[in-house]
Amino acid sequence: MNSKIKKIINKKNKSKLICLTAYSKNIAFEADKYADIVLVGDSLGSVLYNYTTTRKVTLDNMINHSKSVRLGVKKSLMVVDMPYNTYNTNSSALSNAKKIIRETKCDAVKLEGGKKIINQINFLIKNNIPVMGHLGVLPQSTKGKFKSKGRTSKERKQLITDAILLEKSGVFSIVLECVKTLTAKQITQALKIPTIGIGSSVYCDGQVLVTDDLIGLNETKIRFVKKFVNIKKYLNFGLRKFASEVRSRKYPSNRHSY
Ligand code: KIV
Repeated sequence: MNSKIKKIINKKNKSKLICLTAYSKNIAFEADKYADIVLVGDSLGSVLYNYTTTRKVTLDNMINHSKSVRLGVKKSLMVVDMPYNTYNTNSSALSNAKKIIRETKCDAVKLEGGKKIINQINFLIKNNIPVMGHLGVLPQSTKGKFKSKGRTSKERKQLITDAILLEKSGVFSIVLECVKTLTAKQITQALKIPTIGIGSSVYCDGQVLVTDDLIGLNETKIRFVKKFVNIKKYLNFGLRKFASEVRSRKYPSNRHSY
């Protein structure tokens, strides 16, 4: 097992895991300083391309952004989302996962789902592909508005069963997206591998957020997003100053000219 993955599993019940998304080198470089895991999420479809669904994200999209992210990630585990329709069968899952790892040099891939895709996950892990799971709200399978998961006892049981199934298959961690607090707590307590929550309460072993959301670059009203800084304020300050100095001929001065 990759030593970075071992470290991540060993943090369970010791210290919280930090996971941040990145879609390009410069954000990845900053995120890498604070993260255990840098995730190239297929959320890039909505954040960068205004897609209403992540289903439109292609393998090439993921590979191109991940190549850039790789340049910024030095110490964290780098995980890349396998996009929609790229893991429908064992053989397509394996050839696409291999392509992602070969071309981007990432450490692991993430797939959305439990029982429905357990054959593919088993097959990847048997073939030495490190896999991160993803349960709860599954954006690739959800049409329309996202609704939290684990509200009814049937849903809760299904999620716990899926989580245990994923752990048995050998995934090293599971993202829990919009899972009700009590359910997320039960899943986290039932597993030896860490859970990474997004909108799934403080009881998860770690947390993930889309970096563009938490720095306020991407405007969103999703309940689980907290804006930790309003980066747009600083961006606008710099851009406005540039425009003003160009217009007033203050910039470029001799110092900035050849
Ligand atoms: O696509 C993504 O960024 C994700 C995270 C939000 C977990 O899957």
